[in-house]
Amino acid sequence: MKALVLAGGKGTRLRPLTHTAAKQLIPIANRPILFYVMDQIAQLNMTEVGVVISPETGSAIRDALASNPWGCHFTFIPQDEPLGLAHAVKVGRDFLESDAFLMYLGDNLIGESLQDYVNEFERTKPDALILLKEVDNPRMFGVAEVDGSGRITRLTEKPDDPQSKLALVGTYLFSQEIHAAVDAIAPSARGELEITDAIQALLERGKTVQSSRLQSWWLDTGKKDDLLEANRLVLDGWVQRDLRGNVDSESRVEGRVVVEDGAQIIRSEIQGPAVIGKGTTLENVRVGPYTSIGSDCSITSTKLEHCVIMDGVRLEGVEQLKDSILGQHATVRRTTDQQQILRLMIGDDAEVCV
Ligand code: DAU
Repeated sequence: MKALVLAGGKGTRLRPLTHTAAKQLIPIANRPILFYVMDQIAQLNMTEVGVVISPETGSAIRDALASNPWGCHFTFIPQDEPLGLAHAVKVGRDFLESDAFLMYLGDNLIGESLQDYVNEFERTKPDALILLKEVDNPRMFGVAEVDGSGRITRLTEKPDDPQSKLALVGTYLFSQEIHAAVDAIAPSARGELEITDAIQALLERGKTVQSSRLQSWWLDTGKKDDLLEANRLVLDGWVQRDLRGNVDSESRVEGRVVVEDGAQIIRSEIQGPAVIGKGTTLENVRVGPYTSIGSDCSITSTKLEHCVIMDGVRLEGVEQLKDSILGQHATVRRTTDQQQILRLMIGDDAEVCV
């Protein structure tokens, strides 16, 4: 089976970070989100992977995947404009041919292997198998209505008045029937060809659409709070203690903490789970749980927790930084005596004085 990874789009909800970078490359525990997607696909032994890319961020996506530890064969598929998930299937058609495939949204993180769902799809051979998860805010997602016997009756993209709390997770298994369904739909009110509408078209054509309930956690990392939550879950679930950098005798490192090669921890305290990237220096710093700090950062006299700090960031004298995402090479420094808790979301190269 082939895999189609959607790594195009605009990422408007994560601006300013996505003014300069692809949202699928934002790091979670110091690895791009897209790498977790690829880990999942490689685990399913799918080696033929089509990656839909945009003109703005396509080359960054290619560069990020170039090291290819998964041993996959990548076909990069340009999509000139983000005209919707079903449009991405359309541009992927030459790559997909008549094969069944797994479509995986490049900004979705899932806490379990998809192997059981792929096995079910291969055993029962429906035209679509979708994964559903109950959410509190269904208006943000594609929503499925299901009857008493578990059969899907209707699918709606981001409904104003959702009739169910079951959201469509961003992983879909399709037979080649999806192509005719994609051709049959028109753009939605937001101007996109919606994959939800294409699956609804499969239903209306009497094709088999099955669903399974996802057992584990799932996050669409398209917004700040979801990204921080993804960082928390990944640090919590997947990080093991590994101190490779230099921790001086006046520092304390507790719990599941990664200190990468060449990092210097000087008169500081780190409470895991947390990761500190290579070449980063912390001096007189308190790092609280659920914090990821990238490579080559310089942080002095600062307290921070529950943050994603990207490569090359400088923090000086920041009394308390919480629930924040800082883009690459951003600088935050305290220049006054005022002590305050900061919650920030700032883009690459930004400079903030507080
Ligand atoms: O996360 C699950 C949700 O994903 C589903 O519940 C919705 O039914 C589905 O429409 C989708 O909604 P989003 O609004 O979150 O999709 P988003 O625009 O964020 O795009 C998802 C991924 O696909 C993202 O990595 C960007 C990429 N993409 C998006 C579009 C619109 C493309 O590659 N091409 C596109 O044209």
